[in-house]
Amino acid sequence: MIYPIILSGGSGTRLWPLSRAALPKQFLPLVTDKTLFQETLLRLSGLADLAKPLVVCNAEHRFLAAEQLREIDISPLSLVLEPVSRNTAPAVAIAAFAALEQSADATLLVLPADHLVQDVAAFHAAINQAAELAKQDKLVTFGITPDSAATGFGYIERGVALEGATASYAVARFVEKPDADTAQRFLDSGQFFWNSGMFVFKASVYLQELEKFAPAIYAAAKASWHGGKHDLDFSRVDEAAFAASPSDSIDYAVMEHTRSAAMVTADIGWDDVGSWDALAAAIPGDANGNVLRGDIFAPQTKNTYIRAESRMVTAIGLEDMVVVETPDAVLVAHKDFSQNVKQAVEYLKQAE
Ligand code: GDD
Ligand code: MG
Repeated sequence: MIYPIILSGGSGTRLWPLSRAALPKQFLPLVTDKTLFQETLLRLSGLADLAKPLVVCNAEHRFLAAEQLREIDISPLSLVLEPVSRNTAPAVAIAAFAALEQSADATLLVLPADHLVQDVAAFHAAINQAAELAKQDKLVTFGITPDSAATGFGYIERGVALEGATASYAVARFVEKPDADTAQRFLDSGQFFWNSGMFVFKASVYLQELEKFAPAIYAAAKASWHGGKHDLDFSRVDEAAFAASPSDSIDYAVMEHTRSAAMVTADIGWDDVGSWDALAAAIPGDANGNVLRGDIFAPQTKNTYIRAESRMVTAIGLEDMVVVETPDAVLVAHKDFSQNVKQAVEYLKQAE
């Protein structure tokens, strides 16, 4: 069986002021009338051999996640709650322990809760191919053809071709978030793909590799799982044991080191909508290229994203801008700088 693991613990600071600590972007309806978290779960419908999902999120968001699951009529296997954030390597580890209690050869389909996938049929085909490779004890990534030298992604160098319906390769090298020069070299070589951040592997294989390359994370996750309290709705880990884990992502802790990685190419219309600019680009605009959400009047304005949550917004003569109005904060930014919105969040934290 394939156990979907929905990673919903990020804070989405680049989508401030809409995305907040109490309501991060995965729980917001940013693209459709469903939230990104709900879309992530709904797009699995139709996959064969699928177990109920395990949602891994911060304990603070447990009722939010539970309510959003109820709205789409999906009952999870459990909501696995993190008392503190320690990034994705320990989050996936506690999910792996949870899945192993169901089945010793559980396969995990690890999915960030905040991505877009436009071609669901191709996505399902890629997952099926990845599940085949996972049976051979591979840690499978999904490779996206890069179109820029972005530094916010992991890069995967393809190795020898593997058998299967969807083009797949061994992973020659995995480099998480290279610097700009390195990213440019990788792009120019034509041999690299972006890591989508989704993974398929056996729970047992992940834990084995984690123990090998990040023993402190493995030990903390194991102790926290076994010391936790697991009831029908929520799985709680032992707080002190979990907090003792080093904070690291699966990419740095495991994927850069393992020799068992494989990659399935994923031409699936993928986007990680990490910034306002990326979000605007993922939504078809009106005749002037604008994406307008809410009560807005915007003459002589082009290629601009405007969102009005609580008041009417008027914009005249804007081009390539982002304007996001909320009751207590307003963002006005040039699209080219929308990656830097997290600076505002850092500024606010210091001012607190
Ligand atoms: N449960 C839980 N706990 N989830 C978390 C935590 C945590 O502590 N931290 C992050 N997440 C969730 C986020 O909500 C997101 O859905 C996913 O895990 C990935 O975390 P990000 O913080 O968004 O990672 P990233 O975007 O910097 O990098 C990853 O994704 C890229 C593609 O978007 C890496 O896998 C890169 O290699 C990849 O290219
Ligand atoms: Mg991300």
